[in-house]
Amino acid sequence: MSVFDINAVRADFPTLDQQVYERPLVYLDNAATSQKPRQVIDAVSQYYQHDNANVHRGVHLLSQRATDAYEGAREKVRDFINAASDKEIVFVRGATEAINLVAQSFVRPLLAAGDEILISHMEHHANIVPWQMLCEQTGATLSVIPMTERGELDLTDIDHLLKANTKILAIGQVSNALGTINPVKMLIENAHAKDIPVLVDGAQAVPHMPADVADLDCDFYVFSGHKMFAPTGIGVLYGKQSLLEKMPPWQGGGDMILSVSFEQTLYNELPYKFEAGTPHIAGAIGLGAAIDYMQAIGIDALAEYEHQLLVYGTEQLSALDGVRMIGTAEHKASVISFLIEGVHPHDVGTIFDQEGVAIRAGHHCAQPVMQFYNIPATARASFAFYNTMAEVDALVKAVEKVQELFA
Ligand code: ALA
Repeated sequence: MSVFDINAVRADFPTLDQQVYERPLVYLDNAATSQKPRQVIDAVSQYYQHDNANVHRGVHLLSQRATDAYEGAREKVRDFINAASDKEIVFVRGATEAINLVAQSFVRPLLAAGDEILISHMEHHANIVPWQMLCEQTGATLSVIPMTERGELDLTDIDHLLKANTKILAIGQVSNALGTINPVKMLIENAHAKDIPVLVDGAQAVPHMPADVADLDCDFYVFSGHKMFAPTGIGVLYGKQSLLEKMPPWQGGGDMILSVSFEQTLYNELPYKFEAGTPHIAGAIGLGAAIDYMQAIGIDALAEYEHQLLVYGTEQLSALDGVRMIGTAEHKASVISFLIEGVHPHDVGTIFDQEGVAIRAGHHCAQPVMQFYNIPATARASFAFYNTMAEVDALVKAVEKVQELFA
């Protein structure tokens, strides 16, 4: 059971309180995007209704209020991931944009033809495609840490994969398709022993567990707001200050400059050097509110409760004949990918929907994982701290319904 009041928590999420197809909505698609509590919606609304103005530019009161709220959100993010300085927190559109920024601004100048970029077999497309594009641009090679049948990293050859000419290790902390929690701290230690910088994709981790960039000692850490109860279109790039200082800007425009003439432009200080143009001010404020919300519950408390949901759901689904679990790692976040024998996952998703149960059916933006298992797709139930054991039971009932229909 939760140490927090689950009914009070659910009452904070307006979308959860609705019927679909005359059944109570059971929302189990949190890995795709999470629902937003009233506190986040209100913070965004407050900005638009009372404080709407551009940041860093105006001398008028509204602009100062908007700037204070925007910079206040940056400080909340710094505290949330335990970064040393606000200068290390860059607001971006999401994890995808952050990875592209690091690829182009940090890694590209380091690369020569024949150099390597190391990722893993279970990465989200956002942590594959930007590196492939970079390889095409530079003649570098993409190298891949393999995975095992259980959906864990196969680290047998890690010493050989981390080479003298590996210019970055980019690794997901939690697999969105399988739920696997990867041993990123150990990988960072191994990579650093060979002076290889490490980017951690924390998009699927931050909603579920404490994030601590100081403890990890990662060089870059990226995540998206929308998976952690904040608006879409806002995310974070954390980078060590010493690295960000040396990196060239990625995009040019307003706010990232100190002065501009046709002869020369001087760039702004960190983190503004990387925030060209008017940012997603309301999104950042909403992200700050989401952090407040999670911290009020307690990250450890929500992680512990989600683990109970995962254990219960895994036990219940594994006990059913004809259900195959995809991803059975020892350490998992609250994601259950599965197949029902004889039924395409898209049909599973459609029938579940009619039962009121929202899951994702597909490749989950991780097609190499599907290729590994030689399957087109999985059905994926992914939990947040507002889900209940009764909703796990609804999931199990929906599986039984599919099996009845296809018997
Ligand atoms: N990356 C998101 C997911 O896992 C969209 O579904």
